[in-house]
Amino acid sequence: MRRNYQNIPRYVPHAASGYALNQNESQYPLPERLERAIRDVSLEALSRYPVEELLALKASYADYAGVEPTQLMVGSGSDELLAILSQAILDTEDRVVAPAPDFSMYGIYTQIARGHFTQPDEQGLRYETLTEIIRTTDPKLVLISNPNNPTGKMWTLDELSDIATRVPYLVVDEAYIDFTMKDSFVSRLNEYSNVIILRTLSKAFGLANLRIGFMIASEEIIEQIDRFRSPFNVSGLSAAVANVVLRDESYIQESIQFHTAQREKLTELLRPVGEILPSRANFIYVKTDDSEGWASRFLDKGVHVRAFPDGLRVSAGTDEAYALIRQTIEEVNSVENS
Ligand SMILES: Cc1ncc(COP(=O)(O)O)c(C=O)c1O
Repeated sequence: MRRNYQNIPRYVPHAASGYALNQNESQYPLPERLERAIRDVSLEALSRYPVEELLALKASYADYAGVEPTQLMVGSGSDELLAILSQAILDTEDRVVAPAPDFSMYGIYTQIARGHFTQPDEQGLRYETLTEIIRTTDPKLVLISNPNNPTGKMWTLDELSDIATRVPYLVVDEAYIDFTMKDSFVSRLNEYSNVIILRTLSKAFGLANLRIGFMIASEEIIEQIDRFRSPFNVSGLSAAVANVVLRDESYIQESIQFHTAQREKLTELLRPVGEILPSRANFIYVKTDDSEGWASRFLDKGVHVRAFPDGLRVSAGTDEAYALIRQTIEEVNSVENS
């Protein structure tokens, strides 16, 4: 085994019962018309390695994203694309910087690629803090989720553009951008050839189970990074199902409307817990010193949320889950007031 492999944590998934508002998955049910169309997906090519399905998927997604198919790479989730791009860009000991907090896998993929991962100790979501740590660390790669996971904070296009001028490579991870498409960096991609955008079908598209993510970059960068991809890394069946959903005229707008409305309800609901940070994604972050306490009280009612040191991240969910959240908060209030 590699030296220090123990420093790399395992990701062990748990089957959870109840309401999972801890992974920012879509809670919008797939419409019947799509379920029917998916059942019609052909199984004829099951014995062959997938080619056509991937070409069709790239064409559909390029249309959706407003780029050329040659500017895309498809991965088994954006997670796999993070792994691939880290391997492609980093030489041993190269430095990588990300804001703090940010998506927890960034540090892990950097370690796997034998790089050095640094995040600010304090005020890690301030633009000034980030540019200062870039100045002192001189990273080859900066990774930023926008909207930020877990807080929902948006980095402006001007801030991201400025950061792109300071480093060899900037990854803008747009896992949640479908909920606020006007903020996508795609509009500036032609001006910043060192920027790589990541997207996924796991969130607004409600297809986490298919494991499909996209890298969007210049044709030149795609050509370089694609060398580090395994052959046939994405299932053709997944690609075919995704293609059915992508080609639907109204599904993505329906999903966005549902999640936006449910996020607003959740904001009102969680106000008694603490300060709510503004969010355009399908989750909100509520600040509280008692995050573990709240998470375990919600769990007692069957609602999973994600606890962080200074707050909770809660995905937009269904009214049934919200009824249980309301009950929990009312019970705590009645104990406090008695
Ligand atoms: C910011 C961010 N990036 C990437 C991912 C990975 O998504 P997937 O591998 O399902 O595409 C997630 C999942 O939660 C995420 O929050």
